[in-house]
Amino acid sequence: AHQWQGVLAEYRDHLPFTAQDTLLTLGEGGTPLVPAPAISEAVGAEVHIKVEGQNPTGSFKDRGMVSAMTRALNDGATTVVCASTGNTSASAAAYAARAGMTCVVLLPQGKIAAGKLAQAVVHGAQLVQVDGNFDDCLEIARKLHAEHPVELVNSVNPFRLQGQKTAAFEVCDALGRAPDVHVLPVGNAGNISAYWMGYREYHEAGITEATPAMWGFQAAGAAPFVAGHPITAPETVATAIRIGAPASWNLAVAARDDSGGLIDAVTDEQILDAQQRLAEDVGIFVEPASAASVAGLLQQAERGLVPAGATIAVTVTGNGLKDVEAALSRRDLTPTVLPVDLAAVVEAIGL
Ligand code: F0G
Repeated sequence: AHQWQGVLAEYRDHLPFTAQDTLLTLGEGGTPLVPAPAISEAVGAEVHIKVEGQNPTGSFKDRGMVSAMTRALNDGATTVVCASTGNTSASAAAYAARAGMTCVVLLPQGKIAAGKLAQAVVHGAQLVQVDGNFDDCLEIARKLHAEHPVELVNSVNPFRLQGQKTAAFEVCDALGRAPDVHVLPVGNAGNISAYWMGYREYHEAGITEATPAMWGFQAAGAAPFVAGHPITAPETVATAIRIGAPASWNLAVAARDDSGGLIDAVTDEQILDAQQRLAEDVGIFVEPASAASVAGLLQQAERGLVPAGATIAVTVTGNGLKDVEAALSRRDLTPTVLPVDLAAVVEAIGL
């Protein structure tokens, strides 16, 4: 059986690395595209879920991070920096550990899911918590990079999008064609830009016959693309996409418009409902930001805007275990404690 070599080796022909570059990998990519009958039925289309929470650090960020880190390592960098709502920092910390580099992460204080913070800590990153939001952190990270010898590994580093575009290749490889629609959450807007680049490149290479419409969804309290301009105080339960001034603004607008797609918003309640539905009806546990994609698709269906019978790929970006607090926030956790007694257990579970 073929042992997956990581996205850089698997898609080397489509990536800007040289024969001299040593490629890093933690086995990222090669994530499953899982059919979701319950969602397909609800929206009247053929829905496949790209489960990016199965990457090494539990999010899609590993695709872009292995690429940016490989470039940095081969260029002789010793320190990397990133701003993050949690997943980028978790990924940067892991790949920096692997590469033997120092990693500095700038985080919005109090707005990082505990699992993600733990990842940065265990991989030995230098944590800087800032009394501001992600946008403030990114501004500092950019200046650090401009004025000091540290490599910036946020998605403004072009190697990030190069790595992330491999997810689009995988979707096409798995389906044997490009989907009609690709749905994903939008925060800093790197991922929608990267997928669009990947789909275009496969099409231009003659591997696929078409490109999908890109459908992006933001949280209603953090929806600058819907507003049409950056916003100053983003707020949402989906902390991963709590972003008001997306860095890849122009690329995301191009992805939306050139693909004949859209970027819309969903409420926190829709996001948590979709998260629960994915967990209970599909069997996939994702973090809140990831569920914005499914919430958006369901919203489109309610509005009668899903093309009947279309092939739809939906990216769920991060693993639910990263943020158990958000997932449990609406659940009653009061335990039923019983004596060590079979009859009592049988009665309690209603058999
Ligand atoms: N989903 C998750 C789980 C994320 O962590 C992010 C971004 C997104 C979606 C949005 O992707 O920014 O490319 O539009 N997280 C970044 C971080 C900002 O710091 O981890 P995007």
